[in-house]
Amino acid sequence: MKILGIETTCDETAASVVEDGRKALSNVISSQAAKHAQYGGVVPEVAARSHMEAIIPVIEASLKEAGCGWDDIDGIAVANGPGLLGSLLVGTLAARTLAVTKNKPLYAANHVVAHTYANMLVEPQPQYPLLALSVSGGHSHLLWFDGPLEYHLLGATRDDAAGEAFDKVAAMLGLPYPGGPSIERAAESGNDRAFSFTKPKLDGYDFSFSGLKTGVLRQLQELIGEDYTYPSSKLAERLSTGQVADMAASFRRTACEILTDNLERAHAELKPKSVVIAGGVAASTALRSMVAERLPVQMNYAPFEYCTDNGAMIAALGYELAKAGRAIDPHELEANPSLSVQ
Ligand code: KG4
Ligand code: ZN
Repeated sequence: MKILGIETTCDETAASVVEDGRKALSNVISSQAAKHAQYGGVVPEVAARSHMEAIIPVIEASLKEAGCGWDDIDGIAVANGPGLLGSLLVGTLAARTLAVTKNKPLYAANHVVAHTYANMLVEPQPQYPLLALSVSGGHSHLLWFDGPLEYHLLGATRDDAAGEAFDKVAAMLGLPYPGGPSIERAAESGNDRAFSFTKPKLDGYDFSFSGLKTGVLRQLQELIGEDYTYPSSKLAERLSTGQVADMAASFRRTACEILTDNLERAHAELKPKSVVIAGGVAASTALRSMVAERLPVQMNYAPFEYCTDNGAMIAALGYELAKAGRAIDPHELEANPSLSVQ
């Protein structure tokens, strides 16, 4: 079964054809990151307009790369939330229109849940029950899967998402958007023990990153001999390259520890068969090596292009929805910016 997956929740216009939920025949991603970099973050209006320009060429390219015509496609899956409303509307309307005009069943994929399915594109496939850490710019979730579509939330961030913390700390350090890859590069020459931070102590499996973000701000203000009213936007010009590298490395270590501490505890308490990490932050090499070191399970990581937003993960979840007979009426599909996991 071949599913076309369409993703436009944030600043990537992406489409992919996936066979039987596990083999990506194409993975076309048109990133707007360079357009947003000058503003230090995603500008919703710019994102929506860019999706409109890119959506049809990206879908056509994904079919071509997969060697498929419309007759070969068994269904269309689209991420209908959570995300930016203007961005979501472009993908959902394109998918609804194509479902009607090409006469294909349509499947609505939750973007956050779909991130986990990137790991189904990797051999060997993870086994259920499955523990999944799904962390991106918009969410930080710990999920439990008893089966492909039987999942529930174990914990979530109470404030900032992990990727958002990377993006905001990068901005303080004068590093370009998106922050994750910039921090990764800067951290290479830094000492990850140069600064230390208090980690949040929360009940259950929830996360918190705002304290760490404020901790970075306070230590940078102290470092340059200013008080806590000194604006974060002016810090970067007063920092040396070495200080930026040390803070990037120390922040990254602590952020990865917050994520790994929870994952390790959930693994010990709940004993899943497999553990996966997913979402943009799962592209972090530091997170990957920390998780592999601390969890007593074999970790198989998805390639980077399946961690950040992509259509293949949407198609992989679409395949499960198709097998379960959960097609949605194209006239009824709605974009939902605050779509929850439950
Ligand atoms: O999943 P994604 O592409 O989009 C959302 O659903 O938000 O994730 C983007 C987030 C950004 O916050 C970005 O800074 C972060 O993932 N990210 C990383 C890395 N690559 C991307 N964070 C840490 N290390 C990375 N290598
Ligand atoms: Zn995402």
